[in-house]
Amino acid sequence: MSKTTRKPLVAGNWKMNKMVGESVDLAAALKPLVAGIDGADIVVCPVYTALYAVGEVLKGSNVELGAQNCYVKESGAYTGEISPQMLLDAGCQWTIIGHSERREYFGESDAFLNEKLTFALGAGLKVMFCIGETLEEREGGTMNEVLTRQVVEGLKGLQEGDFASVAIAYEPVWAIGTGVVATPEQAQEAHAFIRSLVQENFGEVVASALRIQYGGSAKPGNAGELISQPDVDGFLVGGAALKADSFADIVKAVV
Ligand code: 13P
Repeated sequence: MSKTTRKPLVAGNWKMNKMVGESVDLAAALKPLVAGIDGADIVVCPVYTALYAVGEVLKGSNVELGAQNCYVKESGAYTGEISPQMLLDAGCQWTIIGHSERREYFGESDAFLNEKLTFALGAGLKVMFCIGETLEEREGGTMNEVLTRQVVEGLKGLQEGDFASVAIAYEPVWAIGTGVVATPEQAQEAHAFIRSLVQENFGEVVASALRIQYGGSAKPGNAGELISQPDVDGFLVGGAALKADSFADIVKAVV
């Protein structure tokens, strides 16, 4: 499968932003801007409290709903957590797992993220699984080692069939929220490396069909150049997803 057969995936990670009303307004504003676009899968990931309401707004549209995280149990005494089953119940088709902010601020390890990924897939969610190196790791020459660990340990135990419900988001930590976007060459190099890792571990069929999104200061102005790279299959957008027009412009740059 070549790039042309991988449908681009553009997702907005709203992070810890927006009240319920604001989230509903953003979804309602986005819907008409991307209506009729079927050349990309489009996802928005609001905060938990807004998921159900945003899902209601998006019903019947070409924009899917995702969460930003989930836990590894279906229900029970796990105060403050949320299960994949509950996310599905609230209208989600997707969840993000392994965002660098979860790894950094909440100490989520590769092993724990692997457990989350496995559990979420088993429940029937599709997953955007995030990986990426810090500036220190890139400059210290350990970037490939870090990406290898994140891919090998993060995706451990997955079967070929699981990958229909998985996308990888390459999000170099130094590019997130900094305005410093990876160059198209840097993104391509990392994406190609990630795809080669997936090929080594899961085979050619899985690797060539896998969508690898880029995340980190993606904007309407840089999305076109990035998506033209052979191994860049979409975006996971933070800041620019908080405005309907800029997110829609990124979607349009991709199709
Ligand atoms: P920014 O687009 O704000 O850099 O955030 C990227 C990101 O972390 C998406 O998950």
